[in-house]
Amino acid sequence: MNRSPLSEFLKDTSYHDGLPQRIISGWQSPSNIAFIKYWGKRPEQLPLYPSLSMTLERSFTQTRVVATRNDKRSPGLLINDNPVHPFLPKLSRFLTWIVTEIPVLQRFRFTVTTRNSFPHSTGIASSASGFSAFTLCLLSIASKATSLVIPNEHLLSLASYASRMGSGSACRSVYGGYTVWGKTKLLRGSSDQEAISVNDIIHPSLLSLRDAILVISRKPKTLSSSLGHETMKIHPFAAGRIFQAKDHFKNMLSGLKTGDMQQIGLLAEAEALSLHALLMSAPGGAVVLEPESLMVIRKIRASRALGIPLFFTLDAGPNVHLLYPETDRDAVGTFIETELLPLCEYSLWIDDSCGHGPREISGITDSDFSLV
Ligand code: PMV
Repeated sequence: MNRSPLSEFLKDTSYHDGLPQRIISGWQSPSNIAFIKYWGKRPEQLPLYPSLSMTLERSFTQTRVVATRNDKRSPGLLINDNPVHPFLPKLSRFLTWIVTEIPVLQRFRFTVTTRNSFPHSTGIASSASGFSAFTLCLLSIASKATSLVIPNEHLLSLASYASRMGSGSACRSVYGGYTVWGKTKLLRGSSDQEAISVNDIIHPSLLSLRDAILVISRKPKTLSSSLGHETMKIHPFAAGRIFQAKDHFKNMLSGLKTGDMQQIGLLAEAEALSLHALLMSAPGGAVVLEPESLMVIRKIRASRALGIPLFFTLDAGPNVHLLYPETDRDAVGTFIETELLPLCEYSLWIDDSCGHGPREISGITDSDFSLV
């Protein structure tokens, strides 16, 4: 069995002499949108095949964790002063895992303040941004507690490794631009254990790619992704899906290298439709698209006949992500306003783009949090 990269926190035991009473850490971490979708997993949160995503800029979570000495040796956790916060069970499970990896964390209890930049109940999944932000806070706290100096790049790599245990897609949120999670012989350094940045092979034009997130329904997700991943264990099309995803991945990578928007966009659409086909054909048959999702998809495809290179992708929900080059922002803005917003709930959309990745927020107070 491989040694956990987090075991380096065990090296320094000097903290036993003088553990701080209180350590505060704050991180802002973005969400990401998968171009090659992660769906289905092996034990220990390992993927069945490589996935690839673009990190977003304006859709992020800001989290502040206050760690207070706790000599009871049981890690307490409170989120947003709410003892029944909906994120509490998942975060507690994750905390139980991480304190066994980094024992110094057992000496604290944690008060978490967290909020998303995207308006509440937009149906936008916050687990990737939420888990990556929380993990970065915990690792920063562990490094302050142990006086272990961890260079930023290495901290991000450890955060990718650890956040994967909370939510698989979170491991791709720790880097800006484009990231890949999953071992593939096409990319040196790729790993099932953590994501890597692939910006060095991406065509520069794609680092400013835009993603208009069209909010079709603000209802919270009806399908938990954990249950969705489970269905792949018995899915009749699982083997075909793995074969298809690997093929899509190879072609997506070559499109991203050359900056071929047509190739990237058509593959992103095929991936989105495959994900939903898997949902619908799994036992229980989940239909999470709304009629408006399909109408938006039709309009996007029809608009291509007019020469606008826009494409869609979807998460495991009804909202549509519209991908398009920065250079077409004005034309697409008009198209969104006139054709697509009437199909969105309360005309809601998020004008997002390829983003820069997490950043540490120091000394934040509640009033520093701001919604974009
Ligand atoms: O990270 P999870 O367990 O919430 O799974 C995310 C799965 C998809 O969002 C549907 C696809 C992806 O790769 O992000």
